Amino acid sequence: MATKDRAGDEGTMNAALRRMAESEPELAARLMLQSLPAAAASLPNGLSYRLELDELGAWRVARNGRRHAQVTEVSPGEDLDGDAFAIQTDARTLAELAAGRNPLTAMLRGRLRLRGKARKAVALRHLSQDAGPRELARMGLPLDADLLYRSLAYAIEPEWTLGYSFRIAYELLGDQGGAWTISVDDGSVSCVRGAADDADASVRMRRSDWLKLLTGELDPTDATRLGLTELEGDVFAATLVGRWIDRAEGVDGPELDREARQARRQAKLAGSWGSAVNGSGASSEPGDPGESKRQPGGLMSYEQLYALWERQNWRAHELDFSVDREHWLATPSDAQVDTLHSFGSFYVGEERVTADLAPFLLAAPSGEVEAFLATQLVDEMRHAVFFDRFMAEVMALEADDLRSRLRKIEEELLTQRPWHFLFDDSLRDIADRIKAQPDDLKLFVEGIVTYHMVTEGVLAMPGQRILIQYTGDHKIYPGFNKGFRLVEQDEHRHIAFGVRFLKDVCEARPEMKQVIVDRLCELLPEAAKVFVPPQETNSRAYWSYGQHSSQVYGFAYQALNRRMKMIGVEIPGPEELMPGPVDFSGLDERSRIREPTPA
Ligand SMILES: [Fe+2]
Ligand SMILES: [Fe+2]
Repeated sequence: MATKDRAGDEGTMNAALRRMAESEPELAARLMLQSLPAAAASLPNGLSYRLELDELGAWRVARNGRRHAQVTEVSPGEDLDGDAFAIQTDARTLAELAAGRNPLTAMLRGRLRLRGKARKAVALRHLSQDAGPRELARMGLPLDADLLYRSLAYAIEPEWTLGYSFRIAYELLGDQGGAWTISVDDGSVSCVRGAADDADASVRMRRSDWLKLLTGELDPTDATRLGLTELEGDVFAATLVGRWIDRAEGVDGPELDREARQARRQAKLAGSWGSAVNGSGASSEPGDPGESKRQPGGLMSYEQLYALWERQNWRAHELDFSVDREHWLATPSDAQVDTLHSFGSFYVGEERVTADLAPFLLAAPSGEVEAFLATQLVDEMRHAVFFDRFMAEVMALEADDLRSRLRKIEEELLTQRPWHFLFDDSLRDIADRIKAQPDDLKLFVEGIVTYHMVTEGVLAMPGQRILIQYTGDHKIYPGFNKGFRLVEQDEHRHIAFGVRFLKDVCEARPEMKQVIVDRLCELLPEAAKVFVPPQETNSRAYWSYGQHSSQVYGFAYQALNRRMKMIGVEIPGPEELMPGPVDFSGLDERSRIREPTPA
């Protein structure tokens, strides 16, 4: 009576029987008796024999032409009365034989005795190997739920349960029902009668439905959907036990294959969206390859940039402007106008880039791009709110809400042509065109060049750096300095996104490189004049915040050139793109006051 023994494929019955023979031989013997009508169905027709188990009883097994053999209890020790032979043994030996042990060894040790025509016993080799509970249920043979639940403690391989610890109560309602609790504890499984009140999960169903589940008449998913099985508590634990039962019976193969396939896929995709929990994740570096401090090491993906956004989130409403207020009050009116102009152009600019980013979001060519742009939209509004707080709480603007304050600054201070060229004729114009034609990739590329490369990368970034450096070096407006540093950190991420996007586009569509260059040439020479202070007339050479225009133009051009190299785009020289001469020595303030040289 050999059974198959291949985990996952054809069950693990042999190992289970060996364990059962060791600990509960009677349970094993009773299980085998239960399955005998099906197991003996393949014996030669007309053959009958006796099975006598010490202290348990005796049974007559007869193969008489029906679908399955007949098993009837008889008195032990009687003469054979027409049966071919009798096997006399104990429960443990029977279970060991079932688990594949050689019967000769058992006979030699006297634990297995044969009476009658021993030659006929060879027919037992034909005992069917597929006589599990499902087969019995399908054949309509009686099933003892108590035997089956208790046998689960052996059927489930201990090593499957490593790392798990829980208890599940099973209840079968109705005639011949009962309750059992299976306990799993990191490499051991046990079963006791009765439903534990404090089990992690409990499963209840009618015994009649349980039988239908075994025959396959009822699908487990349908049973749950139709409310025929009730599951309370830990679904995962109950599912695991269900899978282990299937696996023990050798019917879990397809699910194990699926599991392996999906586990490989999970491992491959771990760390998506820059998650550091199950994957490598993103570093906290700013991401912008135009940033000279950045170590070379490739560009971040959209997902990593998204994760960086989540990590770098900050709160505009928590910035402390108390010292800034004092500084502002002490500043004379003329000097206030200059500061209002510099800060105000960023204030209005931040609101403009918020409003004009919305069409980009709607036209995003992929979900990853859409997700990043949504984070950027939040950033830009936060930047506008940061400035709005400063305008109201520190600069005490005579207007009562955000839009009134914006209008006041824009109408009274932002009167220069280059500012309107950048924000109205270039950015708003391309945003409007993208809104009208959201599927036009070339337009979207032109939009990213206008927004991320020119407005943020070339124009906002040096201006930010200068204001941060100036307010830091001169210990003025500390609340603003802190907030603007956070704005700058966000802007690096935005620019990094722009570089990533343009690089991807150019790799897929090399003709887009020319679109990028054309757009830069169209915008930069005029737009870069936003750096010119309102009092200056010569955009080729001037001083502002202790720097010469050539430093600002040089810094802006270099950063742009580094980013374009990452994208794989050659750009024209600074004389073509910048409004005036360039100096690449950096943004440090320069002293203009020297001892007059003696004549
Ligand atoms: Fe911004
Ligand atoms: Fe930005």
